[in-house]
Amino acid sequence: MNKGIQKIFSEVPKTYELVNHILTFGLDILWRKKAVKIAVSQGGTHWLDVCTGTGETANYLVKKAERGTTVYAADFSLPMLSEARKKPNGNAIQFTLSDIKYLPFPDNTFDLITISFATRNINTSRDALETSFKEFYRVLKPGGRFINLETSQPESPLIRKIVHLFIKIFVKPIGSLISGSKAGYAYLSQTIPRFYPADELTSILRKSGFRTVHYISLLFGVAAIHESLK
Ligand SMILES: C[S@@+](CC[C@H](N)C(=O)[O-])C[C@H]1O[C@@H](n2cnc3c(N)ncnc32)[C@H](O)[C@@H]1O
Repeated sequence: MNKGIQKIFSEVPKTYELVNHILTFGLDILWRKKAVKIAVSQGGTHWLDVCTGTGETANYLVKKAERGTTVYAADFSLPMLSEARKKPNGNAIQFTLSDIKYLPFPDNTFDLITISFATRNINTSRDALETSFKEFYRVLKPGGRFINLETSQPESPLIRKIVHLFIKIFVKPIGSLISGSKAGYAYLSQTIPRFYPADELTSILRKSGFRTVHYISLLFGVAAIHESLK
């Protein structure tokens, strides 16, 4: 288990969502809703949101779930899960405190797995990311889908430069000021510019076993939603 990342997320739960909304000018809300719309389109009875954090995405999933669908949510940070439990639909979610590298579920359990803005966090190395993706693949049913919403790299070098400059100037000071966590927002500002472009993430997903992988770019590639099929 990565204690450093766990510690960072124990420092930010109360202000985590506010900082995201401010730093993305509210776009994270729209992107999350778009990812959830794609995620729920094929129905199913067992849905899992991994690295659920304060449970925003899991809550949107509950809102869209038909009767008979159970929404599960996993995270290894108790303080983040405690915030998630307070949400309006917190009672309707089956929370599990676990490292997503070793999910406490049998093979072929879920119709759908979602992850939002956390793939950078489980990317402690390329091998570690593949290991986590293989774990998601293991607990998905054949035909099940994995929806990945994450920051990405704009294709245009000019837009990429502007976005990276924005991150360098604003993310650490604003995030630290509001949350009180210098480490948390130093970490965020370092991981975004280093993360994979959308095509490279597609290759990693394929290498992890997923057979069909499509993605859509959001805001010139600032973020992307990857949809992968087992
Ligand atoms: C940036 S937050 C994202 C939270 C949420 N998905 C969202 O959309 O806002 C990353 C979350 O991933 C969790 N996390 C990171 N690595 C993890 C791991 N190996 N196992 C379980 N949770 C992990 C952290 O505790 C944190 O709550």
